[in-house]
Amino acid sequence: MPFSHFLETCRHRVNQTLLEQVDTYTVDKRLQEAMRYSLFNGGKRIRPILVYGSANTIGDISPTADLAAAAVEAIHAYSLIHDDLPAMDDDSLRRGKPACHIEFDEATAILAGDALQTLAFEMLSQPRGLPGDILQQMILTLTKGSGARGMVAGQSMDLTATNQQLNLQQLETMHGLKTGALINASIRLGALSTQVATANQLNALEHYSHAIGLAFQVQDDIIDVTSDTATLGKQQGADANLNKPTYVSLLGLDAAKQKAKSLHQQALDALSSFDNRADYLRHLSEYIINRNH
Ligand code: IPE
Ligand code: IPE
Ligand code: MG
Ligand code: MG
Ligand code: MG
Repeated sequence: MPFSHFLETCRHRVNQTLLEQVDTYTVDKRLQEAMRYSLFNGGKRIRPILVYGSANTIGDISPTADLAAAAVEAIHAYSLIHDDLPAMDDDSLRRGKPACHIEFDEATAILAGDALQTLAFEMLSQPRGLPGDILQQMILTLTKGSGARGMVAGQSMDLTATNQQLNLQQLETMHGLKTGALINASIRLGALSTQVATANQLNALEHYSHAIGLAFQVQDDIIDVTSDTATLGKQQGADANLNKPTYVSLLGLDAAKQKAKSLHQQALDALSSFDNRADYLRHLSEYIINRNH
């Protein structure tokens, strides 16, 4: 299947799974609407696609991969709702539409984020017939990637770092946590979902994800400067306005671009032991550093 077709197939599969799950939340209509709004307002679905790409590298793409893909996207959607809140980045535009707290209200946005976070673990716990140790590893993978050992720690560092000077090492740690950790979890979940991943394969994928996780946030920093609000679907220049330390503010634009390229090469090197089943992951690395939104 060509890469473009693979992207479409992945997006379709994860959307179906998410839609089915959110439709079961009928207790509170407004909450359900806010959850649905933030899941279906036009995300690129990179993390689910990484789940599928990783599963494809190691074995078969199973219904467990669908649930893992939906789970990482639900965590991602929650993180963006909270990231845009006035107490955090105070952004009113997300994916070209009003941010969740603007479209609804702050309290609803906080609760929709909370609900999407728990929905993620509900979905991940659903795979039936999986050996218990694999299921446990998958749940641990998502908790570590998303919580205070991963994404939440990175978000906390990001807020503390606003108006501060970070050195390159500190910036890399922050980026690795706020963005890299969930990307890393996505790739590991895809591999685990096949039930046949070896320790060596998981190790190689870990190196790959370390490189592209960082590359993803380096590129996010770059396009905040080089793209425009209409293309980005979020306010261009938001990082500079908030005086956030970024790869561009620390290294300058050219060096940041160079960094993204060298991380792409690192990602390809990490995949050298895999055959062409890893080609989607190779393409994804390129996609990540070439995207303009
Ligand atoms: C944006 O992520 C936030 C970061 C972690 C840098 P994406 O660029 O994947 O956002 P969507 O889901 O496609 O909108
Ligand atoms: C967001 O990073 C990272 C998470 C939500 C975990 P940013 O604050 O750079 O993301 P954008 O630029 O608002 O999408
Ligand atoms: Mg932020
Ligand atoms: Mg933000
Ligand atoms: Mg950003």
